[in-house]
Amino acid sequence: MRLDKYIAQTTDLSRALVKVALRNKRVTVNGEITKSASLVIGSNDTVQLDGNTLSAAGPRYFMLNKPAGYVCATSDSVHPTVLKLLDEPNRQVLHIAGRLDIDTTGLVLITDDGPWNHRVTSPKSECAKTYYVTLDTDLVDDAEERLQAGLQLHHEKHLTKPAMLERFHGNEVRLTICEGKYHQVKRMFAALSNRVVGLHRERIGDIVLDSDLALGEYRALTTAEINSVS
Ligand code: URA
Repeated sequence: MRLDKYIAQTTDLSRALVKVALRNKRVTVNGEITKSASLVIGSNDTVQLDGNTLSAAGPRYFMLNKPAGYVCATSDSVHPTVLKLLDEPNRQVLHIAGRLDIDTTGLVLITDDGPWNHRVTSPKSECAKTYYVTLDTDLVDDAEERLQAGLQLHHEKHLTKPAMLERFHGNEVRLTICEGKYHQVKRMFAALSNRVVGLHRERIGDIVLDSDLALGEYRALTTAEINSVS
């Protein structure tokens, strides 16, 4: 494969920007600076951009324990993004499979596999997401029935899909939902006349946040975790 095509495929640089990078001596092949866009690259060649090795090897999948204060976006002019927490080459090609609010903590899936990302996030797949929620005040007694029946959220045409609730001590609950509307959990508890003061995602489908990961830490998904998304 031509060098310029290879770089364009393994980074988010356009072919035009690849040519600029080559001209600016930012690219090495097997340790030697090269400016030749048409150079043919084989599988044993090591291509680096700004010292980072480019890899065409298969898609990547990670789970991150998101801390508060980070945004689930690929770039942001004010807040740090969750991608900043990943010490990975070419992290600019990675995308978040299901965003969390800036103040929400917990499980975030990150990948450069577009179709896999779509299977996690598409409303059609109804992938279950579980949140540990701290509420401001006591939850109404009939919350279970109302969550099962579906809630009417502001500016939504349809009721929420049936959701499952577990109650714990104090004002702590666990909620499992099968959809992902904007600020959904906060809006659901607002519809129950309450307010979310702490929100932590524990699980997406069969992928459970690894308890060994401290806030801000991440790891690659196992093959079983990747394959659990069908
Ligand atoms: N629901 C919310 O309200 N916020 C999140 O971050 C995730 C789900």
